[in-house]
Amino acid sequence: MSDATSAQALSRDWETTIEPLSSLSDFEEYKAAYASFTSGEWDDERWTAFRLRFGVYGQLQPGVQMIRIKLPGGILPIEWLRSIAAINRKYAEGEAHITTRQDFQLYFVPLARTPDLLEELYSAGLIVALTFFTVLSGAFVAGLDAGMAYNTFPLMEGQLVPEAMFDMTPWAVNFFENIATVQFDHRLLAIITFVAIVLLWLRGRNPALSGRSARAVHSLAMMALVQVTLGISTLLLFVPVSLAVLHQAGALVLFTLALWTAYELRRLQPQG
Ligand code: HEM
Repeated sequence: MSDATSAQALSRDWETTIEPLSSLSDFEEYKAAYASFTSGEWDDERWTAFRLRFGVYGQLQPGVQMIRIKLPGGILPIEWLRSIAAINRKYAEGEAHITTRQDFQLYFVPLARTPDLLEELYSAGLIVALTFFTVLSGAFVAGLDAGMAYNTFPLMEGQLVPEAMFDMTPWAVNFFENIATVQFDHRLLAIITFVAIVLLWLRGRNPALSGRSARAVHSLAMMALVQVTLGISTLLLFVPVSLAVLHQAGALVLFTLALWTAYELRRLQPQG
């Protein structure tokens, strides 16, 4: 096989290993690939083949991209129009086009802004993942009766990060068996989840979401507030069963709302 043929075979190989964007982990892959391209590790040809699968196309003008967003079945709920208009104003220039391929095309997006644009299309998925891990960490708190210690908020025995965090060896055991670590992880994940939901809610206000998307985001934000209040009250009152049960049920409701919100907001996807 000549050098040229083997190089071609190699490039086909990596081309076929890349799937179209369909989840947040794929978006992480886009960010990593963009970093490889800008650091010079990836050449133009490899990067071009990669970004096309994420709906990021070249234009005649250098340095700017055309972005294709799928409208499966050609159906366009009004809130998607608002989101597309907002993204067009924020990242692109000129008018967006509706095409006969059942998609929208936005133009003149600087390459360096494409990771942010794709992240904006996908951010709801992050909240599902965060809520999931917070719920999981809560089960560890309940399992270890870790709510019977450190009954203050936000400090734990006068400190933001408790001293006993890594008392056990090997260190990995602390994440499962150390009451201080398990409770700290739950607080931290809960706060990150709460802040992420509040940021999503704030973003949904301008331009305002409408219809089911708005209802989903509002309910999620309201429930996050209720759940954090329940969690803190459960802790401060030394885990009364009634509050602990409400907090457990609240976790289920919050996770369901996170899934619903992700469903309402995630239908905007790039067309690879
Ligand atoms: C997004 C917010 C939160 C979620 C989704 C969440 C979820 C959960 C879940 C699923 C459990 C396990 C319930 C069980 O299996 O009985 C739990 C337990 C617990 N959580 Fe949270 N939580 C959140 C916020 C908080 C906060 C902010 C605190 C306090 C700082 C807190 C304190 C506790 C305590 C003390 C328990 C143990 C209750 C028991 O022993 O039954 N949680 N949480």
